[in-house]
Amino acid sequence: MSNFVKSSKKAYVRTYGCKQNFADSEKITGLLTTLGYEIIQTVGDISDMETADLILLNTCAVRENAEQRVFGNVGALKNLKRANPDLLIILCGCMTQQEHTAERFKVKFPFIDAIIGTNILGVLPEIIKQADSEKEKKQKGAIIKITQAGGVFDEEIKPLRNSGGEFSACVPIMNGCDNFCTYCVVPLVRGREVSRLAENIINEVRGLIAEGRKDILLLGQNVNSYGRGSDTDFKKLLSELDKLGGEFIIDYMTSHPKDCKKELIDLIAQSLNISRHLHLPVQSGSNRILKLMNRGYTREEYIELAMYAKEKIPEISLTTDILVGFPGETYEDFKETLDLVENIGFDSAYTFVYSKREGTRSAEMNDPVPSGEKSAWFKELLELQNKIGEISYNRFTGKTLRVFCLGKGRSNPELLTGKSKQGIIVDFEGDQKLLGKFVDVKITKALPWALIGELTYEKYK
Ligand code: 5AD
Ligand code: SF4
Repeated sequence: MSNFVKSSKKAYVRTYGCKQNFADSEKITGLLTTLGYEIIQTVGDISDMETADLILLNTCAVRENAEQRVFGNVGALKNLKRANPDLLIILCGCMTQQEHTAERFKVKFPFIDAIIGTNILGVLPEIIKQADSEKEKKQKGAIIKITQAGGVFDEEIKPLRNSGGEFSACVPIMNGCDNFCTYCVVPLVRGREVSRLAENIINEVRGLIAEGRKDILLLGQNVNSYGRGSDTDFKKLLSELDKLGGEFIIDYMTSHPKDCKKELIDLIAQSLNISRHLHLPVQSGSNRILKLMNRGYTREEYIELAMYAKEKIPEISLTTDILVGFPGETYEDFKETLDLVENIGFDSAYTFVYSKREGTRSAEMNDPVPSGEKSAWFKELLELQNKIGEISYNRFTGKTLRVFCLGKGRSNPELLTGKSKQGIIVDFEGDQKLLGKFVDVKITKALPWALIGELTYEKYK
């Protein structure tokens, strides 16, 4: 790859949306580094943007409000471009994979230099080169180059791990989705499922553990279908990873209830290092709505799986995603969701109001419930889940949990924060020298979003 960019150039990469997008951005920043860019920011704070030579926004299309945020932020770049005409502005990611949105950006913001989609790595060097050389004469708006979504994993490019802490790492194991839930734009923008070779994943994880990154999150839209069509599968992958020496945590998301089998739960129950956290999006508690969503399981099947997990792994933490106000959902349907939430007792739930996505099947469905009513349902669900979450975390009070120390306390910077094997944040008093180590913490108090505890052994203190 030609190194055509002067080493003094700075790149600002901002990422919206899910962990998968953040993992993509780590690859992008890895690539930009090989092109000679210094990376100045990846998340949050836009104050450093003025010093950037390249601003790249990696966008998210999963809900309308995420898209609105990107539109607002891009609009705000106009002044930066005016002040510095040499600045390159590039958009990529799930929003721009859809041609209608790419065109909208081009028309609305003629100062954008280039728009690419989700298949970024192969085209980015060329696009930077082209946009840079055309910048002076270009009045016609952005270069649009959207290639087919999905495809092979680029194992050559090393990610710049800058979206998590010093002791954590995200490891994509697959990309794309074949499920076509009727509300979801992901299969349209990320393409069909492609899995990485197990050998590459295992080598990467082995290297991360050796570096001290012992909090590892495996990523995929539907991790349970990892390896489909080959002689490996998710269970085998987890089993191999569990055997890598030492103590570490392998977490994973997202599991799909239709593909998450009891044998996988059995494996986790027997494992040493696989997280006792299962994120299992239910989306709805109504069979009628689950069918319309094309989720491929019933309420009863979901409850059976969740109860099996709780029985086999009593210390498990169950979390979920719930979508409120799917087209045609009635209050009766919604009450079944409330009932399921109450029945299962999730530690936490990511709750969303349905957002119509162009190109999905649900966008064609009749959606008579006014948004105000959906918001009221949403609030009711949130209140119920907050209550349940708090009660649920109380089961850990008095218990001792194994915790991996990650950094300063979230509830109080005087404390340390760590992650339990259930994926729960635990804050406790301890010395900085414990960072990157596993300790035993006795839980003294449950907050709605974290646990507070104290170190058990004198030797830690
Ligand atoms: N509207 C609202 N929420 C959505 N999700 C996916 N698509 C939509 C949509 N169109 C939610 C689902 C999914 C999570 C990642 O985002 O709950 O599990
Ligand atoms: Fe979207 Fe369903 Fe695929 Fe998840 S499983 S990414 S919700 S289509």
